[in-house]
Amino acid sequence: MATAFPIQPIQRFGGQSEAVKRPKEFAYFSYDEDHQFRLDDSSLKWYYPPALGVDLSSGFEDFKSHSDSVDEHLDSLLKTIANHEKETGKPIDAQVVTWRGMMTKIMTVPFDDRDGFEMNATLYRDCIFIEENHAWKQHQKKEQSNQKWKNPIPQEVMTFWGYKFEALSTLPLPWGQTSRQHIESRPTHPVTNAAQYCSVVRTGFGPTTLCLGGEVDCLWDGTKPPTPGAPIGWVELKTSIDVRSDRDALNFERKLLKYWAQSFLLGVPRIVVGFRSRDGVLVRVEEMETAGIPARVAGRRPRPLWDGDVCINFASAFLEWLRATITDEGVWRIRRQQGAAEIEAFQVEEVGHGEIVSDEFMNHRIKL
Ligand code: A3P
Ligand code: MG
Ligand code: MG
Repeated sequence: MATAFPIQPIQRFGGQSEAVKRPKEFAYFSYDEDHQFRLDDSSLKWYYPPALGVDLSSGFEDFKSHSDSVDEHLDSLLKTIANHEKETGKPIDAQVVTWRGMMTKIMTVPFDDRDGFEMNATLYRDCIFIEENHAWKQHQKKEQSNQKWKNPIPQEVMTFWGYKFEALSTLPLPWGQTSRQHIESRPTHPVTNAAQYCSVVRTGFGPTTLCLGGEVDCLWDGTKPPTPGAPIGWVELKTSIDVRSDRDALNFERKLLKYWAQSFLLGVPRIVVGFRSRDGVLVRVEEMETAGIPARVAGRRPRPLWDGDVCINFASAFLEWLRATITDEGVWRIRRQQGAAEIEAFQVEEVGHGEIVSDEFMNHRIKL
């Protein structure tokens, strides 16, 4: 049975936003330099302002990008949740478990016509587990790389700029435990996208409690607070083309929607944007507070490009609808086609949980 959640009219999601629980980290994990899973914070990094004038392309020849051809499902997130449940002796109370990236896609739907998505979902023990449809994602990437790219700079180089900016702006040691020489040597440090620190949080939209896992780039300073659930001074790093014209400003405000949603979902309070020239030289950095972004874009005349309250209310309503829709076992597809006025959900397998919930996790739950 297919059913759909209408996106329009988005005016019905206007007004004050629904109650949102502040995201609280209750667990975390790392991927090391070889993208091996580790139940620790070994890939945690700290922010140190980068030097300006550096060419973000330098080192591209030596860069070995981590391949995303293997479908990792929710495995690392589920391992981390299982470990937490063993420690506490009880299952987590979330009604939805997914990667932060999936919720970013949902939240930004009301103001995004360009990107479609496909996800797989399954109900297991009163909780909906949602993953990206990996085959669809791979297909998308292939389509994009086949398109004639007007820009003379290859897409792989532009993607590298983002990772290079991370290498220029971070170190794996807190302030006071590193030398000036180490800080200044960053333009020659190796660049990787295999290592990650991932935060696992409990959060909520209206009546729905979620568990989200997602990468955080670095800490502003100090250490993580020892009290579980206390706010953490995370920093999200982004690169963007320097704003020189009205058109650039418009495009940047559009990008701010994604920056804001992505950071809001994990409780990341600060975003540092590295502005670059057209050919990839870092020219300026701007530090901004996540919470101040919606007010910043609200000032645009004749009308703002997006509204954060609408995103929150939309996500909240969508999750309620999803919980009323996926009430039986099997595998469901959640899909928004590019520019479509609805998000569809339909069953693609009638029994089981596909590969969304790992055997390892189910074995753990049986023993819990
Ligand atoms: P920028 O977005 O700053 O250019 P994140 O900002 O989420 O921490 O991701 C870090 C970098 O990974 C990005 O840097 C970009 O280079 C790359 N990246 C992230 N998501 C991507 C996507 N969907 N497609 C291509 N590259 C992506
Ligand atoms: Mg990141
Ligand atoms: Mg980033």
